[in-house]
Amino acid sequence: MTGNDNILNVLCYGLIVVMLFLTTGSAQTDECLECHNAVKVMPGLIQDWEESKHAQEGVTCRNCHEADASDPDALNHNGFIISPLVSPKDCSECHEKQVQEFQQSLHSLGAIYYEFLFDNQKLPYLESQLEGGYIINEGEEITHAATLRGCQSCHGTNMSGKSTNDFTVWPNNGIGRINPDGSIGTCAACHTRHSFSISEARHPETCGQCHMGPDHPQIEIYMESKHGNIYSAEGDSWNWDETEWKAGVDYRAPTCSGCHMSAAPGVPASHDVSSRLSWELESAVTRHTDNTANDLGVSISDGSTWQEKRNRMMSVCKQCHSSTWTKNYYEQADIVVELYDKQYSSAKTIVDALYEDELLTRASFDEPIEFKIYEMWHHEGRRARFGAFMMGPDYVQWHGFYEMLQDRVEIDHMAEELRNTPKADTSNKAPAFGAVTGIFVVIGVILLLTKRPGK
Ligand code: HEC
Ligand code: HEC
Ligand code: HEC
Ligand code: HEC
Ligand code: HEC
Ligand code: HEC
Ligand code: HEC
Ligand code: HEC
Repeated sequence: MTGNDNILNVLCYGLIVVMLFLTTGSAQTDECLECHNAVKVMPGLIQDWEESKHAQEGVTCRNCHEADASDPDALNHNGFIISPLVSPKDCSECHEKQVQEFQQSLHSLGAIYYEFLFDNQKLPYLESQLEGGYIINEGEEITHAATLRGCQSCHGTNMSGKSTNDFTVWPNNGIGRINPDGSIGTCAACHTRHSFSISEARHPETCGQCHMGPDHPQIEIYMESKHGNIYSAEGDSWNWDETEWKAGVDYRAPTCSGCHMSAAPGVPASHDVSSRLSWELESAVTRHTDNTANDLGVSISDGSTWQEKRNRMMSVCKQCHSSTWTKNYYEQADIVVELYDKQYSSAKTIVDALYEDELLTRASFDEPIEFKIYEMWHHEGRRARFGAFMMGPDYVQWHGFYEMLQDRVEIDHMAEELRNTPKADTSNKAPAFGAVTGIFVVIGVILLLTKRPGK
């Protein structure tokens, strides 16, 4: 070995040491971390970040939280301009593909839908609009309490022009949150900060936070399905962290993500949850997907036909099932949709006729029959259809068609009563009604008194 070689070796080693110092050092010398560690604020949050892929890759606090002074949500924080709110626009610097797919999916319309229906007063959140539902601050209406912690917790708040100091919009992690920077959604709805884990997002409970309850019980249906049973029995031993998640290798039965998002042969992984659906099962009248959002009319998803979308989902099934099994299963579910549509439209005709004949007021949700016809599609009818496609027999039958039958019988009776009751003349009726009730009360009291001694 020559002297020159020795000097070269020393130089090389030196360079490696300096590079190592610089790479590991970039995380350690982040001013945000330094102070947060020193003053020991929010240690749970730092711990999550330290265990994340981001910490390994040197993505630190500043990469995500630094903001422009002109952003509505910007705070001056110990000499730094930051925002606690990190929008998909901030993530898109490094994850453009996922952000773009998310933006085209129906998920991104969550808050917009909520606002649309709020304005149109079509849904039963009227209780939150009656007196007592408002929070009044110095004579000024600020929010609808029930919907802030209700609808908007799943759907998202509208933060346009707002900051994180405003409690009527923040904190919020609704799927379609409208952010101060104009971007839409929050990636933390499925990848909570600061773990940003794919394992967490692949677990069905993550989706079940919003996809549950009487009107969209996807998690309940999943847990009663064979797929859900297998997940409950064996899920602990699956490989949840593999970037390429392979059916049959890393997991034995699909989760929500397995069917709606993860990759299958010929079907790349996608954050567009609309891209494998052939039906709009959530609407009153089922229709095939056509890349247009119900009622809003704006375009969503990727422009492919409903058949192409269905083929993608079928390719997912075919990782574990034969073509015949898959095709026949879809046909079984399709006839459930057909049956539902028939039952619903027949009941709807009866209620529509009551409106025509002015036996119902035009306002929504002020008469019992309006709740019945609404729940027939929005609750029981959805349950029947979702159950059929996701293997939940109890939701098809007892929480579905059985309750639709009950609705129908009640609707028939209510309609008959409305038709047989002469139009009320409330001004004369009240005293007469009072007198009759009074007589009955007196008779009742006398009966009670006379019964006593003979007891
Ligand atoms: C000099 C110390 C110090 C420095 C430097 C510092 N922070 Fe903080 N930060 C704190 C303390 C203390 C809190 C807790 C305040 C509280 O509980 O409301 C905090 C709170 C925060 C919050 C929550 C604010 C809110 O209103 O919700 C964020 C986000 C944050 N820091 C990010 C950062 C980022 C990003 C940096 C670097 C650009 C940084 N911090 C630098 C001390 C510091
Ligand atoms: C990969 C991006 C990313 C990195 C890196 C990151 N954060 Fe965050 N942080 C987020 C997101 C996303 C949220 C949730 C806010 C939202 O919903 O918009 C958040 C929220 C917060 C909050 C508010 C949470 C609360 O409960 O009050 C604080 C404080 C915070 N981050 C501090 C930090 C600190 C300190 C670091 C560095 C250790 C850090 N963040 C690193 C993305 C990031
Ligand atoms: C400065 C670049 C950068 C930013 C900003 C950033 N990330 Fe990442 N992220 C990375 C890198 C690098 C990886 C590791 C390689 C990979 O999986 O792509 C990663 C990985 C991930 C993973 C996969 C983790 C796993 O378990 O495999 C998720 C999920 C993720 N990021 C979400 C987010 C979200 C959400 C935001 C915004 C709140 C964000 N990232 C912001 C660079 C970034
Ligand atoms: C528990 C979370 C949650 C709450 C609370 C919630 N939603 Fe939803 N909402 C969802 C989910 C999940 C869907 C998707 C249903 C589906 O496609 O199967 C949905 C669907 C919708 C749709 C249908 C959009 C379409 O594609 O046709 C509208 C409209 C809607 N919600 C409005 C509201 C309003 C208004 C409220 C409050 C009165 C509300 N939601 C409360 C989670 C919620
Ligand atoms: C509806 C839940 C959900 C939301 C919202 C979501 N993700 Fe994901 N994300 C997932 C799931 C599930 C996976 C794992 C998919 C798989 O198995 O390949 C994933 C995987 C990832 C990965 C790993 C690489 C990949 O594509 O598989 C990155 C990076 C990522 N997400 C970033 C983001 C960003 C950025 C956002 C915000 C625009 C976001 N995610 C919003 C559920 C979600
Ligand atoms: C924070 C709440 C929330 C979480 C978490 C969530 N979703 Fe959603 N999801 C919604 C809402 C709200 C809608 C309806 C959005 C709309 O109508 O604009 C929806 C709609 C959907 C749809 C229907 C899309 C269409 O085109 O009809 C699918 C499929 C879906 N979500 C799958 C998932 C999966 C899979 C996960 C978990 C990986 C998940 N969601 C996590 C709230 C959520
Ligand atoms: C075995 C695969 C599979 C699993 C697992 C699965 N789904 Fe589905 N899902 C489907 C199929 C198939 C459809 C109907 C597809 C169509 O329209 O062609 C569907 C429909 C939906 C819809 C209805 C969209 C609409 O039209 O309103 C939502 C929302 C949804 N799934 C969410 C979930 C959630 C959340 C989970 C987990 C709790 C889940 N799915 C688990 C296969 C699955
Ligand atoms: C990762 C593999 C995998 C994928 C993907 C998958 N399944 Fe399954 N599925 C299974 C396994 C395993 C069983 C249990 C088989 C048994 O009963 O022996 C099962 C059971 C079923 C059953 C029987 C339910 C019962 O109650 O016995 C049906 C129907 C079914 N799957 C349909 C589908 C459809 C439709 C899709 C696509 C939308 C799908 N599966 C996707 C693995 C998968």
